[in-house]
Amino acid sequence: MIKQFSIEDFRSPQLPSNLPEAIQLREEAPSNIALIKYWGKSGLQIPMNASLSFTLSESKTVTGARAVLREKAGDDVRFEFYFEGRRNKDFEKKIHTFFGRIADYIPGLKAYEWRFESRNTFPHSSGIASSASGFAALSKILLSFEQTLLGTYDDTFASVKASFLARLGSGSASRSIFPGINIWGHHPDIPGSSDLYAIPFPYEVHPVFDHFRDWIVLIDSGKKQVSSTQGHALIDTHPFKNQRISVAEKNMNTLIAAIKTGDLEVFGRIVEAEALMLHALMMTSEPDFILMKPDTLHLILELRRWRADEKIPVFFTLDAGANVHLLFPDSQVNRVEHFLGAILPQVKLIRDFVQ
Ligand code: DP6
Repeated sequence: MIKQFSIEDFRSPQLPSNLPEAIQLREEAPSNIALIKYWGKSGLQIPMNASLSFTLSESKTVTGARAVLREKAGDDVRFEFYFEGRRNKDFEKKIHTFFGRIADYIPGLKAYEWRFESRNTFPHSSGIASSASGFAALSKILLSFEQTLLGTYDDTFASVKASFLARLGSGSASRSIFPGINIWGHHPDIPGSSDLYAIPFPYEVHPVFDHFRDWIVLIDSGKKQVSSTQGHALIDTHPFKNQRISVAEKNMNTLIAAIKTGDLEVFGRIVEAEALMLHALMMTSEPDFILMKPDTLHLILELRRWRADEKIPVFFTLDAGANVHLLFPDSQVNRVEHFLGAILPQVKLIRDFVQ
């Protein structure tokens, strides 16, 4: 179990007086898919409930950084951010906010002038949350940078601090640091869980989840109608807010038990209930919004029919969008391929699996 850290633990010691002139770093981080959803937050990225996710393997952000020592450290963080070869001002704005939040925890940040170059291994506007992998990769760079200046941290602390920083960029990014299954957010029954950072699943995982698949069916690759940040804000005044908190807490316990024992039926029931509840919360907020498309429902209904007929363990989850994530054990790959070919023959697909 990971020991509990407090905010104070993430403050760094004084920098040495002789800093290296230039530092070059490269890190990558995968995306993740939440099974117990994070929806609703308060203060500075404090989640309303604990969430649980699978870390993916293939869908990653790869980021390189070059830091050159400034003559004199400034009050600002000086940087440029290039995405897929081009300077990206939209990302710079988001990263500027992020750096404002984390500068106190990475004291060397303002002593250097930065250039970041980043790319994703998954297609542009594929509906995969690139903010999760993007902020996780950036946070890992900051941790490597800090260790270059201050000496190596132990692996667990470096990862926990990277998760702590990543959370301040995007909540779900906190869950993209550790492989496998991550939990972010304090839960009364999960020792070591924290609102400040994610932890690796602190229990035995049943082998049925080894190499577990997440195939992302790209129903719609357009820009999101509502950003997650706007969506989270709508939960503040949502009439079902308190019910959501208690259902999420119970669902977490049930899902954890299913992951330990390999009970796929219970696993699927909870995962699908969470996906539908996320969208139900969106559809009942004020203003409401509907992110599912006709093909989203078509696929869900066909999947349920097929599952009932053939008793196969294939389940769905949804993110804040129309795309459907199909979750299933390795053994079902061929059958799922056939099923999709029959239901949505032209559809684009990203075939990923749990790291
Ligand atoms: C529906 O992490 O994107 O994907 O913290 O505002 O950046 P911010 O939100 P974000 O929210 C993700 C919401 C979700 C569910 C989840 O990943 O848990």
